[in-house]
Amino acid sequence: MTYRVLVTEPIVESALKKLRRHCEVDIGERGQYDQPAKLARDIPGYDALLSMLSNPVDRSVIAAGKDLKIIANYAVGYDNIDTQAAREADIKVSNTPGVLTEASADIAFSLLLAAGRHICEAQAYVREGNFDGWDPLGFLGLELNGKTLGILGMGRIGQAVARRAGGFGMKVLYHNRRRVGSATETALNASYAESIEQLAREADVLSLNCPLTKETHHIVDAEILNMMKPHALLINTARGPVVDEAALADALHEGRLGGAGLDVFEEEPQLHPRLLTAPNCVVLPHIGSGTHETREAMGELAVSSIVGVLKGKKSGEISNLVVT
Ligand code: DGY
Repeated sequence: MTYRVLVTEPIVESALKKLRRHCEVDIGERGQYDQPAKLARDIPGYDALLSMLSNPVDRSVIAAGKDLKIIANYAVGYDNIDTQAAREADIKVSNTPGVLTEASADIAFSLLLAAGRHICEAQAYVREGNFDGWDPLGFLGLELNGKTLGILGMGRIGQAVARRAGGFGMKVLYHNRRRVGSATETALNASYAESIEQLAREADVLSLNCPLTKETHHIVDAEILNMMKPHALLINTARGPVVDEAALADALHEGRLGGAGLDVFEEEPQLHPRLLTAPNCVVLPHIGSGTHETREAMGELAVSSIVGVLKGKKSGEISNLVVT
């Protein structure tokens, strides 16, 4: 039997090559399936869907996918998929955990350093021909040594961010639904904050590393932003809607926050217009997992779960299923 797989947009060739060994593969164009109606129209007849985080795989898509056996999301986050609808339709869902941890933590730290030391503004200053020699008052930033890094969400990526903080001489304070074990706390030199409010009050840099859920939607709102120190930085490499962007833009424009580093946005690919004009706001086009090594490993994981399910492997034999 030939299985048919829809890959919603081009991904690394190594993954496609492996998939083609087992299935007939159709590949969408970039952005083609960013609307559920288009995906719902084309999904009938496919046994598997390899989706991007930008594809809303909602109830309408799942209902139309009568032959679907698995949805493999090319991301660790799977908030774009209605997992309840998939469960009800007996469709398995996989994600790509573990393999993007270090790349994502690198981007969080890149944003932290860029916002903390005004790297983007300073580069623009040089490129625009304004550099007139060493300036005793030029581009003064935040010294990391001895400062407190607050981490919201202490899963794999949060812990990888914490490890990097140790190398920069920062103290780590974290908040998570469940406290991590004392061995992990000791290894990371991390203390537990009882609430997000405590984290906001005490952190010099607040890094968001939690998944997007009903509970974390706008968890960083105007009230939390108001609690932060005026020199503090907010780093978001999780999901845009974790932050109320309008409130963040207000805080930055009114000088109530030292800066922000954002890899994700509420309405990607749109940016809140006032974030683009906000002082010391570093913005990236959602490249947290964007290294050659990581994207290949993500492809390998996504394809293995598709091939595993289509070849009848038991759920317990596939490590990356989030809906079994
Ligand atoms: C993910 O995998 O969820 C990341 O956001 C991709 O960069």
